[in-house]
Amino acid sequence: MQIVIFGAPGAGKGTQAKILSKRFNIPHISTGDILRDSVARATALGNAAKEIIESGELVSDDLMGGLVKETLQNIDFDKGFILDGFPRTVNQAEILLNIFESLKINNPYFIVLEADHEVIVSRLSSRRECSNCRAIVNLHDIEDPKVYPNCEAIDTLMKRKDDDEVVIMNRLKIYDDSTLPILNFYRDKFNIISVDGTDSIDEITNNILFAIEGAA
Ligand code: AP5
Ligand code: MG
Repeated sequence: MQIVIFGAPGAGKGTQAKILSKRFNIPHISTGDILRDSVARATALGNAAKEIIESGELVSDDLMGGLVKETLQNIDFDKGFILDGFPRTVNQAEILLNIFESLKINNPYFIVLEADHEVIVSRLSSRRECSNCRAIVNLHDIEDPKVYPNCEAIDTLMKRKDDDEVVIMNRLKIYDDSTLPILNFYRDKFNIISVDGTDSIDEITNNILFAIEGAA
């Protein structure tokens, strides 16, 4: 099961990718998570990317293309993966086509989560991430804003620096200007599956599974 999950910041890519990753027992490759881990560990990549991520800008295509190529080469891609956060520019979309071609990855599922800006701003302003188990939650769904009930560790819920409202607006603009054009570029190359990202988490998962079965 080879899946690319695509959509605006806050559309729910990470939430659905984690569910699908467990369900199909395939790795979740999130370029955002890889970059944030690198920042936390202060690696060369992390130090180069820190300010860019925190301002909501995009890390360079060359750096990201190399990172994704290396990551895909080092997993059992025949068994499957779910790629979240790449591609984000038409140039990255071309890089990904080349990577798929060189690794003989044919016909991955390309899932687009659709959500309007209003829903996204509300979701991202109240998103928290558990720094221990990496779960993504929303303050609307939990009682204590510091404790993720499914994790043993306490006081681990953190707000991402790029979930500040000004940065969210910048990320959305970049998505509209640089990332959305990928859909036109891929239209005749992949079977694009669009799913309403404003439904409940469970409904979205079911719709993705239904669409995947239909496309199989
Ligand atoms: P990245 O980490 O990829 O961030 P993003 O694309 O902006 O997306 P998010 O992670 O913010 O949102 P999401 O769609 O995963 O939503 P989530 O499931 O969390 O990238 C971060 C940065 O890294 C970039 O800005 C850039 O700087 C850099 N970067 C990464 N990849 C790059 C690349 N390829 N090239 C260049 N730079 C790159 O959900 C959001 C919230 O909504 C959560 O609170 C969740 O609980 C809630 N929620 C989810 N689904 C639902 C639902 N159905 N109903 C109600 N609430 C929901
Ligand atoms: Mg995410």
